[in-house]
Amino acid sequence: MHPQEIIAAKRDGKALTDEQISAFIAGVCDESWADYQITALLMAIFIRGLNRREQYSLTGAMLNSGTMMDLSDIDLPKADKHSTGGVGDKTSLVIAPLAAACGVAVPMISGRGLGHTGGTLDKLESIPGFDVNIPFPKFKKVLKSCGLALCGQTKQIAPADKKLYALRDATATVPYIPLIVASIMSKKLAEGLDVLVLDVKTGSGAFIQKYADSLKLANALCETGKTFSVNTHALITDMSQPLGKYVGNGFEMYECLKILRGEADDAMLPTLELSIELTACMLVHARVATSTNNALSMIETALGSGAALERFRKNIELQGGDPKICDKPERLLKKGLTEAPVVADRNGFVSDIGTFAVGRAVSDIGGGRIRAEDTVDHAVAYESVKKIGDSVRRGETLGIIHCRRQSQADLIAAKLRDAYKISGVMPGATKLVRASV
Ligand code: URA
Repeated sequence: MHPQEIIAAKRDGKALTDEQISAFIAGVCDESWADYQITALLMAIFIRGLNRREQYSLTGAMLNSGTMMDLSDIDLPKADKHSTGGVGDKTSLVIAPLAAACGVAVPMISGRGLGHTGGTLDKLESIPGFDVNIPFPKFKKVLKSCGLALCGQTKQIAPADKKLYALRDATATVPYIPLIVASIMSKKLAEGLDVLVLDVKTGSGAFIQKYADSLKLANALCETGKTFSVNTHALITDMSQPLGKYVGNGFEMYECLKILRGEADDAMLPTLELSIELTACMLVHARVATSTNNALSMIETALGSGAALERFRKNIELQGGDPKICDKPERLLKKGLTEAPVVADRNGFVSDIGTFAVGRAVSDIGGGRIRAEDTVDHAVAYESVKKIGDSVRRGETLGIIHCRRQSQADLIAAKLRDAYKISGVMPGATKLVRASV
């Protein structure tokens, strides 16, 4: 089957057969398709579209470009949570130990931060010694012994996605729902899960910002998961402002450890609330809880007794990290940083936060990546002080930049000041969980 024929079929608006889709993915993996042919087909797909059958077929072909994890000898139900990405979105680090303490196994394959969004692997690496590059046999051993294992994507998991994602990124073909679904689900389905809970973000810091589009994405992800026999559910959650208190790797890890220690302050409560909602969804669908109320009481016990923290301590130890960080999370907050406030220039109410700009600002001070090969500074962060709906007075602090140099702080403070809209009218309340799918 020649690439030109497949490209021409999609160019002319035809649905591709399963064989054509398999030939495309085989060509991506064995490099018999040139990058210009791959990107020509991606653009034809972006413009002409994929129907549901083609989308499932593409997901299956991408999944089968690698191997699936065999976790069949672990008796517990296997459940994971995946977020479409946000700013200050750190719930995985609370959810994984919490769900494990409540009786599910959590094999979590995570990503690194890119552009304006953070990544779980970077947050974990703020813990001295923590190894996210563990081979599968070790991953399974860790999962068996503490109920959670956390690692990055390996070459064996949906390798076609790595190549396709890089080409989509370079050719403006990322924001098309069937391509996003195939990309996310090919990786998640490889985990051999019983249950998958998706946190689909919506709002100014989300990858898909409009609520209607987030809803479409959530539905498509859930239908695809179910087609592949994984009990898949989604919550659509607010990303119109940074989640919780901090945006930045070490500080976010600190926030999660404070939550697991039962020491969350008010600014950290949204992170706790969302972690609880998502964990409850996992427990109910994994059938370790009989109802949402039952799940909530299990979660309260796991947090209150310290069982969730102990799961995380064990996991950190098994993955080479320093478990003493659980006793002294403040060690994650590095000394000698410059602190610069972002201040309000008028009185009123915070009515909007350019959350994308907040995420980019943290990348700009070194806390994230602009390009995949960039290194990350785990120490820097932005502290989100005022939230949408809060009243402010001129000169009051909206947020605090924790960075390395005053010159960075001055530059970023001005940009961040512009990211806040302050109006004379109090805006309507923002709900953290907008819908359940
Ligand atoms: N995240 C992914 O893994 N893939 C996409 O296409 C978009 C977001």
